[in-house]
Parts: sequence; structure tokens; C-alpha cells
Amino acid sequence: MLKIKRIGVLTSGGDAPGMNAAIRAVTRAAIFNKMEVYGIKMGYEGMINGDIVQLQSQDVSGIIQKGGTILKTARSAHFRTPEGRKQAYENLKKFNLDGIVVIGGDGSFTGASILSQEYNIPVIGIPGTIDNDLFGTDYTIGYDTCLNTVVEAVDKIRDTASSHNRIFFVEVMGRDAGFVALEGGLATGAEVIMIPEVKNQMSELRDFLSKRAKLNKSSIIIVAEGSDEGNAYEIAKKVEPEFPQFDIRVTILGHIQRGGSPTCFDRVSASRMGVAAIEALIDDQKSIMIGLSHGQIVHVPLNKTVKTHKGVPKGILDLAHILSI
Ligand code: F6P
Repeated sequence: MLKIKRIGVLTSGGDAPGMNAAIRAVTRAAIFNKMEVYGIKMGYEGMINGDIVQLQSQDVSGIIQKGGTILKTARSAHFRTPEGRKQAYENLKKFNLDGIVVIGGDGSFTGASILSQEYNIPVIGIPGTIDNDLFGTDYTIGYDTCLNTVVEAVDKIRDTASSHNRIFFVEVMGRDAGFVALEGGLATGAEVIMIPEVKNQMSELRDFLSKRAKLNKSSIIIVAEGSDEGNAYEIAKKVEPEFPQFDIRVTILGHIQRGGSPTCFDRVSASRMGVAAIEALIDDQKSIMIGLSHGQIVHVPLNKTVKTHKGVPKGILDLAHILSI
């Protein structure tokens, strides 16, 4: 006899391409295993407000290739309060949901972990964020698509930058983590990459610009939005008076990085993780995140993934440095 008969699925936090592929996989794997599935709208807000609808297999057809999330998403301040979570739990009881799958990032899993502990309800996390900053998984859903968007955009900027011998500061997403800047920068041959994890990068930037001043060449400086030196405009403003010989421009890539059709890698990862989440529920797992490590599905305790910082691979900065001479 299956212990879990009805599950809820939601997306929470910033949307990421591939979330729909994950919703589809969760829904179909659950139905395949004779469970009923309920979509919770607008993340935890829908759990609190009872905005919950049953999903059938056909409700998730034709969505694997779509960006965004059909369930909508939100960052819920109310869910961070005990009253909000109590109200949410009342709705889970009302709909007889005995397991929840949360597709989201760091903040979403913090909430998931607390809910699971407070009300002893099984909650399985699927990592969905373009930031790739979740401990315990090599990749989060949406990261690969985001990187490809960044690469396409920066390649275009490079065309115009090199035609005019200009210095471009290109800001990418990453309030707290520099994965997008690092790998996006390496893949586009960026000359300097500035990320939140590395402090005091102004001297590196000034050294680079001084050397560059002797050459009549374009450069791309990738700035993660959370760099401690400021945003791309602020950094450009700091160096502009010191290097009047450069023609400097700034581009903010912004939310285009979150949209678009997911790459093959994100669709496959989302499908694998979605099925693994249902298998974990069947297997009586209570509070874990599904991750991908060295190509294999792994289970990581939710409280461990939210409490442990995932460091960026430092070697990539060195690589970018070596390759930008
Ligand atoms: O958490 C993902 C993320 O894309 C961050 O990189 C970025 O700082 C943030 O979301 C932007 O959030 P919002 O859409 O709320 O402006």
C-alpha cells in the first residue's frame, strides 16, 4: 500500500527555464505511480491562500520546451512567519496532501525545511535557480539555459566592442553568487570577471586597464550584480576618469537571463530530478533535496543544503586570467 497518495507541487522564488519540465516530470511520475497531483499556484502564497488545483497528465503536455513556470511563482514574506506556515499547513490538510515537491532555490528550501520539521510532512526539493548556488548539486535547473543566453548576448556585445575598440562592462545576474559571471565570462573570453565571492577586485581591474591602455583593443569586463565593488555602472564610473583614453560602455543583461526555452541539458536534468523526487517520496524520504553529482542523482538533507555555502570553482578565475593575455 502506498503511504503517499496525494502530493502537491509548487515553484517558488525566481523562475528558471526548465521549471516546467520539472513540473511535468513530477506530475507524470506521480500519476504513473498511482498518486494524485495538485499544483500549488504562486509558490507558498498559493499554499497559504489555498490556490491549489488538481493536475492531470494532459495539463502538463506541451510545456517541456517552455520557459517560466505554468504554476507561477513568488517570494512569500508571509510564509516566513509561523502564522503563515500554520495557514499553509491547514490548506495542505484540507486538500489531504501528504507530500510536497518544492522546485526552487535557497530561500524556497529554507521554508521547505522549516515546514517539514514543524509539521512532520515529507518535503522534497528540486533545485531550480539560474544562480547554480545550491550546495550538494553540481547543477541547478535553469543555470545551463541562462549561461547560453549570457554567451549569446556577450558574443554580440563583443562584435560591437571590437569594432570600436571599446571597453564594455557587462552586468549579469548573481546577487550572492558568481557562477553565471564565472562560466559565462570564461566562455566568452572576458578579460576580467568580478564576482561577490572575491573581494577587492578594483586593483586587478586597474592593473588590467593600465596594461590595456598600451594596446588599442576592446575588452569585456563581466560583473556579477553582487560584486562588492558595486554594480557595472558604479564600477565603470570609478575607472572612467582614470582612463580617459578608453571609450567605456555598460550593458545590463537583466531578466533576459531568466527567460527562454530550456536547453536540452536543463530539460533532461529536470526530467531526471522530477522522477527522482517522486521515487524519494515513495521511498519514505522526508526532507531532502534531489541533486546531481558527477552525473548521478543524489539525496542531500534539505537543512544541509540551506546551511552550507557552495563555493565557486576558484580555478575558473585563474583560467580566465591565463586565457585573457
Ligand atoms: O535568485 C535568482 C535571481 O535571478 C538572482 O540572480 C537575482 O539577483 C534575482 O533573482 C533577481 O530577482 P528579481 O526577479 O526578484 O528581481
